[in-house]
Amino acid sequence: MSRPFLLAQISDPHLGEPPIVGVKPKKALREVVAAIAALPNQVDAVLVSGDLAEHGAAAEYELAAELIGAIGAPIHVLPGNHDDRTTMRAAFGLPGTGDAPLDYAVDLGPLRLTIVDSTIPGKVRGGFEAAQLEWLDAELAGAPEQPTVVATHQPPLVTGIAEWDEFNLPAADRGALARVIERHPQVRAIVGGHLHRVAASSLAGRPVVAAPSTFVQARPNFETEKVKLRDRFRGFVLHALRDGELSTQVEILTAT
Ligand SMILES: [Fe+2]
Ligand SMILES: [Fe+2]
Repeated sequence: MSRPFLLAQISDPHLGEPPIVGVKPKKALREVVAAIAALPNQVDAVLVSGDLAEHGAAAEYELAAELIGAIGAPIHVLPGNHDDRTTMRAAFGLPGTGDAPLDYAVDLGPLRLTIVDSTIPGKVRGGFEAAQLEWLDAELAGAPEQPTVVATHQPPLVTGIAEWDEFNLPAADRGALARVIERHPQVRAIVGGHLHRVAASSLAGRPVVAAPSTFVQARPNFETEKVKLRDRFRGFVLHALRDGELSTQVEILTAT
């Protein structure tokens, strides 16, 4: 049987942030990277779905590239609300100029990865400019047969927790994205990060998955509307594409 194409997704390492609830971001990322490198199958590519750097500093991106590079697969990054588009663009040699939205697509072989920058500089919540969604529509129309994963930082889903939903993607932006996705059946999944917790939903009939953080996870409380962070778990996502079908799986590690 043919081996599937494997895309590992890690998210929200927050390199440069001081320890939170006793967790050091660099050590935690190292543990997740080691777990990916120790998988029975070598992954073919790595997606990092934002908040790589706590302060958007060049040294933080250099460290991210060095640590994640230990996986030994090409790395594809997108900005989170803690990242700096200009610095990230320069550090990873990404398309576009300056602090323009960081939208791009890359052919990984059997899978196409299309990145839509969901960040709004200076804000925690996300959103899209109309021109970005026009670009996405045209981009997807250009490769209609290619199984595609669309990636953002703020995932297009509702958590039911007021604080999170306020800091995520507003309904109008989710709806605008859905109207593009529904025209393109080759989109197999929409993936994001930002929530520091595994969450799943659907948009335009396609699965939406938020990856866990490699750093600290959120413990939801649906009554107080406040999100607290906890130290014990970290993880990553593995997307496996075989014969055009995508399976999205989550690996959770207990902290050492
Ligand atoms: Fe984050
Ligand atoms: Fe974030």
